[in-house]
Amino acid sequence: MSKQEIRRAMVFARNRISDKERQSRSQSIERHLTALDAYQKATIILTYASFRSEADTMGLIRTALEAGKRVAVPVCLPNEVQILPCEIKSPDELTPGHWGIPEPPKHLQRQIRVEEIDLAVIPGLAFDRHFNRLGYGAGYYDRFLPKMRGDAAKIGVGFAFQLVDQLPADPFDVPMDGIITDSDRIGRK
Ligand SMILES: Nc1ncnc2c1ncn2[C@@H]1O[C@H](COP(=O)(O)OP(=O)(O)OP(=O)(O)O)[C@@H](O)[C@H]1O
Ligand SMILES: [Mg+2]
Repeated sequence: MSKQEIRRAMVFARNRISDKERQSRSQSIERHLTALDAYQKATIILTYASFRSEADTMGLIRTALEAGKRVAVPVCLPNEVQILPCEIKSPDELTPGHWGIPEPPKHLQRQIRVEEIDLAVIPGLAFDRHFNRLGYGAGYYDRFLPKMRGDAAKIGVGFAFQLVDQLPADPFDVPMDGIITDSDRIGRK
């Protein structure tokens, strides 16, 4: 299957999960993530702010802030196809921005430097056991992730059915260090 065909199949499958199931699977994902060494050692975490039928990260954001960690979310700059990491102090600061993705509004955008990020929690439509990731197809993360520190952890997050055996990968696709689903924990960090 092509990247585009896999994207379509995964959005379809993800949209079929009930809210109740999404919440319970998202809680399992949060449990697996917060058990990671990379999470426990992290001072600054960049995490996607979930929208539509994505694995919910609002619980993770609250948990991390309560644990005294600093949390940033991506703000998308569509003209440059760039991600701006912006610190938030509460999930209540998030409001629908580009494409309805929750973002802090302009006056609350506290930009941090990409080198400060210790752990990135990255969304994907699919992942494979070779740590490949398939995103939404614009190349935002493929442009952003190479700018992170070499010792920072890049963890892809999705539901169990989004982890497949083999994805098509291009040379510019940035591999993950680990992948977490509600029932899998694979990784090297
Ligand atoms: N580092 C890069 N610099 C410039 N363009 C890039 C880079 N990485 C990827 N691209 C471009 O981005 C486009 C989308 O890439 P791809 O299909 O892998 O998206 P994706 O990984 O699903 O998206 P995302 O990274 O936003 O999750 C490709 O056409 C590719 O040429
Ligand atoms: Mg890619």
